[in-house]
Amino acid sequence: MNTIITGLQWGDEGKGKIVDYLTEDADVIVRSQGGNNAGHTVIAHGKKYVLHLLPSGILWDGKLNIIGNGVVLDPVGLLAEIEKVEAQGVKVTTDKLFISDRCHIVLPFHKELDVAREAALGDRKIGTTKRGIGPAYADKINRCGFRAADLLRPSYFREQVKHRVSDANQVLAQFDLPQFDAEAMADEVLNAFARLAPHITNVIPLLHKAWKDGKTILFEGAQGSLLDVDFGTYPFVTSSNTTAGGSCTGSGMPPTAIQRVIGVCKAYTTRVGSGPFPTGDEGLSQYLHDLGREFGATTGRPRGCGWLDTVLLRFACMINGVTGLAITNLDGLDEYETLKICTAYDVDGQIVDLPPADREAWDKAVPIYEELPGWQVDTTACRNYDELPANAKAYLTRFAELCGAPVAFVGVGPDRAQTIVVG
Ligand code: IMP
Repeated sequence: MNTIITGLQWGDEGKGKIVDYLTEDADVIVRSQGGNNAGHTVIAHGKKYVLHLLPSGILWDGKLNIIGNGVVLDPVGLLAEIEKVEAQGVKVTTDKLFISDRCHIVLPFHKELDVAREAALGDRKIGTTKRGIGPAYADKINRCGFRAADLLRPSYFREQVKHRVSDANQVLAQFDLPQFDAEAMADEVLNAFARLAPHITNVIPLLHKAWKDGKTILFEGAQGSLLDVDFGTYPFVTSSNTTAGGSCTGSGMPPTAIQRVIGVCKAYTTRVGSGPFPTGDEGLSQYLHDLGREFGATTGRPRGCGWLDTVLLRFACMINGVTGLAITNLDGLDEYETLKICTAYDVDGQIVDLPPADREAWDKAVPIYEELPGWQVDTTACRNYDELPANAKAYLTRFAELCGAPVAFVGVGPDRAQTIVVG
């Protein structure tokens, strides 16, 4: 069975843990969009790893890990990540990691452009991770980007990149930012790339062979559905298709290869960066931060926290075709007395149960809540559904009903063992 794991909120849903859990039975693990803006915290073999570009299967022996064409790859960032996990004892060998020759490359000036654009936007900024993701995808769409295959031909790359650096320098000059020297930049990128070059290949025949051979393929989504460039809270989104369809366009695997879509979401809502967050709640944020929870894996930023928003989740379940929900961090709510669930928004007197497309409506959306009693019991030791307190089960039942998808997994702590399999 081939599975897509996709985030249903604004990223940070705890996908890394579910991916790690499902990786045990998978043969091939694929990243198909995003870049090192992602931060997947995985606790495996008793150690904590933070992965940005590497698929979670890298922590296992005998699995194929694929970075697909939909990913934007920062060679310097990936090299640093490989060195870090290798220092933790993980082997990143050419029989474990395969990188698509069609991946677009994040170049150093993309990061500068990202920072400059954010600064220019002032308080209208997106709140990006400053990893150059937007500018790299913009070059892809503008048809002036470089792909991994181009870096396999260093002299060609050196020659061609001069034009792109010269254009980027003109933009940087408008922001009074230092200019890039094309040669020095090419040196830096190609030096990092030398370590990656043996991993670069056409991954499509490899994936299709695995499919034909009946291997189990797992697509590891990054970010979340509400950050999808088409379906998210535009313009406060990332620059890729984070929803299930992106797993196909970002890997070269057809939709007919997929049997299951697991949508990962927290038992409440969080978001980093700017943009609408109707159910955001300062009291809940403070409570979770005081517990040491909800700080970003990539940037360390405290995440804004809020009540469960089923307007957003209902939509995310529809567009992803979710076959099962993986609800994480249930234990984060363990001590709360009364829990709120947002079932609809009131936008200027109109009740809507799906997210609006226009930006102004977001500013006006007032959540409509129903309240459920909390369970006020520590759930972290629960290992099966029946062990959960009755109020927690009632919360999960209502959760699934409002989202229109069944519960498949419930997370009650960071450890692999703290994952309850529901059906
Ligand atoms: P970018 O992807 O760096 O361009 O950032 C665009 C938006 O996506 C910002 O709001 C980021 O905070 C958010 N974002 C990007 N990657 C992640 C992630 O892995 N988790 C949560 N938010 C993310």
